[in-house]
Amino acid sequence: MAYEHSFGQLMLKQRPLFILKGVLILYKGIPNNKRIHKRGRFMKNKFTLIATAAMGLESIVAKEVKALGYEDVLVENGKVIYETDSLGIARSNLWLRTADRVKLLVGEFDARTYDELFEKTKALPWEKYIPEDGEFPVIGKSHKSTLYSVPDCQSIVKKAIVERLKQKHGVARWLKETGALHRIEVALLKDKVTLTLDTSGSGLHKRGYRVGQGEAPLKETLAAALVQLTNWTPDKTFYDIFCGSGTIPIEAALIGQNIAPGFNREFAFENWDFIPSTVHEQALEEAEDMANYDQPLDIYGTDISHKLIGIAKENAMEAGLGDLVTWKQMQATDFHTKETGGYIVSNPPYGERLGDRKEVESMYRELGKALQQYPTWSVYILTANEEFEKLFGKEASKKRKLFNGFIRTDYYQYFGTR
Ligand SMILES: C[S@@+](CC[C@H](N)C(=O)[O-])C[C@H]1O[C@@H](n2cnc3c(N)ncnc32)[C@H](O)[C@@H]1O
Repeated sequence: MAYEHSFGQLMLKQRPLFILKGVLILYKGIPNNKRIHKRGRFMKNKFTLIATAAMGLESIVAKEVKALGYEDVLVENGKVIYETDSLGIARSNLWLRTADRVKLLVGEFDARTYDELFEKTKALPWEKYIPEDGEFPVIGKSHKSTLYSVPDCQSIVKKAIVERLKQKHGVARWLKETGALHRIEVALLKDKVTLTLDTSGSGLHKRGYRVGQGEAPLKETLAAALVQLTNWTPDKTFYDIFCGSGTIPIEAALIGQNIAPGFNREFAFENWDFIPSTVHEQALEEAEDMANYDQPLDIYGTDISHKLIGIAKENAMEAGLGDLVTWKQMQATDFHTKETGGYIVSNPPYGERLGDRKEVESMYRELGKALQQYPTWSVYILTANEEFEKLFGKEASKKRKLFNGFIRTDYYQYFGTR
């Protein structure tokens, strides 16, 4: 199979193939890959993976990991820990919609002195992972730990690994580091050291379809989480009435047709010697089989800005969605529909800048009035404006605290009547 960098080209090439195969594809929704993989039971090369997650998204990432068939999942602050084989590394990177990165755990230990950090790092089997010419920059973080100087921790870890690799690979002078990238992280939390290798490369939010963006685009991982936090199913009408560059409708369409979000990008693990070269291909083939291009969708993205509607269209094209999503310039308060039981999932402006506040607040009031005509519709709004319910004129059925980057927001959820 040929892999181009343009998501659009690849999908357009493959879409006819799927239409032919459509009768065989019975899947809907997120992959219930358990039908194919009961991983964990028959694993040869076991790896412990850490899927990192933005604060508040851990349980959604854990649900996705379990949907991939990995059952023993441990959820901690900002991370989801589980075991897989090498195919699981490829599948996790390809499928996890809401995780930031997938890291491979090399070792964990307590350290309160630099000597301890050095010796315990050196005792780990780095040669299993990093070849003689491998490049291995070390990044770090430290929280509530005796060893608080991050640059010092990074350089101690680097020295320890250099010494180990020189010994094990029989290199007398220096390591060239001209080969594949193996980015290492040393993370200290309450004197516990965790050493990982980053299997993803660039963050998983980089799906490869964003060719343009507006002022405040939503991260693709958060957009996917917003969709997955609703009980929307692909047979229902879906609107984002503040769509900007189109992230939420595009993520909804990918979810709706069960398309793996990492289908057209590269990952660091693809260049690693200890991962069989076939696993990425195998995971991609599985993703092809799981995609349901026959699933009809009724997804709309609207925004007040003509320019952003143009950008959203380009992004959707790049994502290989063609004209699956309907894009339209529209004032949100002009929302009209004859459909019942649809979904609105939106990230409107928050009115944080002084001059914008009044305008945004009066728009929220108008929006409340416009949407109250559609009681069967479920409405989901992400905003940092704490007065939202008052302005919108209705108490939310449910609220969830989420972070949009560093901004603390609430996800206001209004369930439609049946
Ligand atoms: C926070 S941005 C949404 C970003 C989007 N989720 C993305 O990923 O690109 C808010 C959007 O609301 C749009 N907007 C502001 N006022 C509007 C209104 N009254 N009606 C419709 N859209 C509006 C802006 O043009 C902007 O694109």
